[in-house]
Amino acid sequence: AADLLMLGIETSCDDTAAAVVRGDGEILSQVVSSQEDLLVRWGGVAPKMAEEAHSLAIDQVVQKALDDANVSENDLSAVAVTVGPGLSLCLRVGVHKARKIAKSFRLPIVGVHHMEAHALVSRLVNKDLDFPFLALLISGGHNLLVLAHGLGQYVQLGTTIDDAIGEAYDKSARWLGLDIRKGGGPALEQLALEGDPNAVKFSVPMRQHKDCNFSYAGLKTQVRLAIESRNISTDDIPISSATRDDRQIRANIAASFQRVAVLHLEERCQRAVEWALKMEPSIKYFVVSGGVASNQYVRTHLNQIAEKNGLQLVCPPPRLCTDNGVMIAWTGIEHFIAGRFDDPPAVDEPDDMQ
Ligand code: KG4
Ligand code: ZN
Repeated sequence: AADLLMLGIETSCDDTAAAVVRGDGEILSQVVSSQEDLLVRWGGVAPKMAEEAHSLAIDQVVQKALDDANVSENDLSAVAVTVGPGLSLCLRVGVHKARKIAKSFRLPIVGVHHMEAHALVSRLVNKDLDFPFLALLISGGHNLLVLAHGLGQYVQLGTTIDDAIGEAYDKSARWLGLDIRKGGGPALEQLALEGDPNAVKFSVPMRQHKDCNFSYAGLKTQVRLAIESRNISTDDIPISSATRDDRQIRANIAASFQRVAVLHLEERCQRAVEWALKMEPSIKYFVVSGGVASNQYVRTHLNQIAEKNGLQLVCPPPRLCTDNGVMIAWTGIEHFIAGRFDDPPAVDEPDDMQ
């Protein structure tokens, strides 16, 4: 597998990413171009804007990934690209690019599921990680607990009934007036370090539901109400110009939010571990991945759940937790080796065909 070379392309949300990975898991290059200023100006990902930003960035990002890896398209074994889930306008930019390369250089294409890639990149990080394993995937749009029996064989144990945890981090950060250019999650995590996690009594979601599903919409609302009731007008006063007392109040809200948001994860994961071990007693690993898994508080607390249950936590390094091309290339490799890929597009296929 070492001589396999996979290009991975990811454009499902707001990052344009590409990477070249070798069959043995060696990362030869990794390029990410993010849309920070768009996020700030539009208050979230506006699909049409995001599509334009992807279109502008994609050629350069892919070229840089090839250059950094010191390879040309001719050296590649195949091209892997995210086909979903995500914003369809954005996904199309990546798919179009992948098909163009595949057509010109006669390369097979591997269509990759974004969430599967978040889960499987853990196998690149830890070569001992065999199926079956339990995975918690936490990002801006998804909150999933899955039992991975094998490649392409996943049983969903839980999902969110409304928002994902990343969405709650992002909105809370915005309402708290944080500088979200590097993402709402990291900004809130930072501020929470200054706060008292027990200062605000937020209630833990879904305790009466004895299952593995999640809910973050209610907690989001609790944060908004906490801000409103304390009369800190965060829309027009950014944290950088807040008074000392005001900053402390915001930090307390941030820390209290984070404590309860993660406690909710812990409670659902504890139950999922119990369910999973009943179904697959041989499980040894607990994988935690997706953008929110780059949070240190999250990592520490989920490691405690793993240890308490005799499992080993596998949490990829932060740059492989947030959206990236490496996870797409690696998942492409896993499927390619298993014989799951599409032939190159026909030479007479028009370039604009998806
Ligand atoms: O996986 P990802 O990069 O993109 C999606 O597939 O959604 O996840 C992005 C999410 C965002 O909501 C972002 O705020 C959150 O991950 N995130 C964090 C941290 N870093 C990224 N949330 C909390 N703490 C962090 N350090
Ligand atoms: Zn993601």
